[in-house]
Amino acid sequence: MQGAEKFEILIPEADLQARIRELGAKITQDYRGRDLVVVGVLKGAVLFLSDLVRQIDLPLSMDFLGLSSYGDATTSSGVVQITQDLSKPIVDKDVLVVEDIVDSGLTLSFLRESFIARQPRSVRICTLLHKPSNTRKHVPLDYVGFTIEDRFVVGYGLDFEQRYRNLPYIAHVPP
Ligand code: IMP
Ligand code: MG
Repeated sequence: MQGAEKFEILIPEADLQARIRELGAKITQDYRGRDLVVVGVLKGAVLFLSDLVRQIDLPLSMDFLGLSSYGDATTSSGVVQITQDLSKPIVDKDVLVVEDIVDSGLTLSFLRESFIARQPRSVRICTLLHKPSNTRKHVPLDYVGFTIEDRFVVGYGLDFEQRYRNLPYIAHVPP
């Protein structure tokens, strides 16, 4: 893609899809007989969620949540606001939150608290990527696609200034 020529591919498309098949199989086992709602965090998780749900062999519903975090383009401030809320209540539901990346953990810890207050039957988190070296707030991560080092990445939903979300792979942006 124009502008992406200098990027170094970190996780190729085939590796992403293979890992997503494994996660989907695990989630299928874990949620059999439950009332599963898969909640995607906009916009970054949309590509991951759409591939993941096709690997979950269960009846489920999908919902989406918009969040904005005050901070600059590449760091999280921890001050998070819900800009678009869920379309339905989650009382007594088994909620699986799907995220693109957990960096400091501030965004997801806010989200988890806010969801637990709505009295679902359960809340679990599935993130494609985790950067453990940046943890500021510990959040239990139930399903993790890949653990990566602390470098800024784009592609497969992740952006740099709103660009590159449509790359089919995860890449490092050179400094
Ligand atoms: P946290 O609150 O620090 O865990 O931040 C999570 C959010 O920061 C993610 O949902 C992304 O939107 C953004 N983010 C963190 N690291 C990266 C990255 O390497 N590339 C793109 N976005 C990132
Ligand atoms: Mg995000």
